[in-house]
Amino acid sequence: MNLWLECIRCGRKYPWDGVIYTCRECGALLDVKYDFEEAPRVELGKGSLSVWRYEAFLPRVREKVSLNEGGTSLYSCKRLAKRLGMRELWVKNEGENPTGSFKDRGMTVGVSIAKTLGKRVVACASTGNTSASLAAYAARAEMKCIVMIPSGKIAFGKLAQAMMYGCLVLAVKGNFDDALKLVQESCERFGLYLLNSLNPYRLEGQKTIGFEIIEQLGVTPDVIVLPVGNAGNISAIYKGLTEWEELGIIGGKPRMIGIQSEGAAPIVEAVRKKSREVRFVEKPETVATAIRIGTPVNWEKALRAIYGSDGTAESVTDAQILAAQKLLARTEGIFVEPASAASIAGLIKLLEEGVIDKDERVVCVTTGHGLKDPDIAVKTCEKPLEVEARIEEIEKTLNSML
Ligand code: F0G
Repeated sequence: MNLWLECIRCGRKYPWDGVIYTCRECGALLDVKYDFEEAPRVELGKGSLSVWRYEAFLPRVREKVSLNEGGTSLYSCKRLAKRLGMRELWVKNEGENPTGSFKDRGMTVGVSIAKTLGKRVVACASTGNTSASLAAYAARAEMKCIVMIPSGKIAFGKLAQAMMYGCLVLAVKGNFDDALKLVQESCERFGLYLLNSLNPYRLEGQKTIGFEIIEQLGVTPDVIVLPVGNAGNISAIYKGLTEWEELGIIGGKPRMIGIQSEGAAPIVEAVRKKSREVRFVEKPETVATAIRIGTPVNWEKALRAIYGSDGTAESVTDAQILAAQKLLARTEGIFVEPASAASIAGLIKLLEEGVIDKDERVVCVTTGHGLKDPDIAVKTCEKPLEVEARIEEIEKTLNSML
């Protein structure tokens, strides 16, 4: 299998093992490209799911740095579907990954590549999940790790993870976009290996979400709905499914629909205008801290995914996100973090607008576990009832509810 990096805009090619994140010619993003001598095959629906099950569609690495990522559940959500008046709704619950988010799929490949390239120090900027994931995989790989997070703006569970895995945590007095700029410059100046989704190898791991959905469903869904922040994940899933389509494994692609928060929705604004350019948001704001991003670096790949699949993008309010988070937990028993609930909130809005039809087969990707952000849950849910430690007290309380 031949492997190289290729600019998505001007097509310039670079060797696979170059430490390069954007095109030297035109500055655009790079794709990992394969020349499959022999079309790789998977026996669809047979064997257990994981990222490395799809090894034949991934770059070859010398040593796999793995925590058994992937193989997350695809839940049939009959109660929620009924509530929303739709026929078929599925939730791909990425919170089941080892560090509680889809980032682990990208990191197992990204950190394995870092190892293969002989790198010793890895770094990222993060709204929380990327840093938690990278810190874990760096620990597993015996590598040094530096993460830059927007000070005071990441959810508590994610901060706890990064701290526990023992990386250097830099709380940058700025937002995520500032932190990403800083980490990019640091990587250049100090020779750190960048593992944000600008690194095309990260997205290779994440494309396996789409592969798993196909295998679990047994067919290609009509629509995949997912939250969008830095816009890597929507691009990754689209890339994977495009490769499977080109290899003849599937017959067509689902519409890719990206959901952003109203206060941080540059991609949505571009799609509304049918534009090929994105106007960045200077001061992004949302309760869904994971997607509090005004300058999504993967914007060009995300537009390719949305326009290339006849998809769209929509924004939702914080109130809609929090309501959807509760609705999913209470109808299906699936507790996801606010950013992940954006996919459900977006689905509800798009059903109302008729953009998604109630007869379509829809998959919502919930990207991170609910316990990542315990403060939000405690703040938005009914408080526990304090009772005296006496059975009569319990009886009195139960009588009012049973
Ligand atoms: N959902 C969750 C839970 C996330 O953590 C992120 C991104 C997204 C959705 C959006 O994915 O960036 O690929 O469009 N979190 C990054 C981080 C930015 O640093 O953890 P995207």
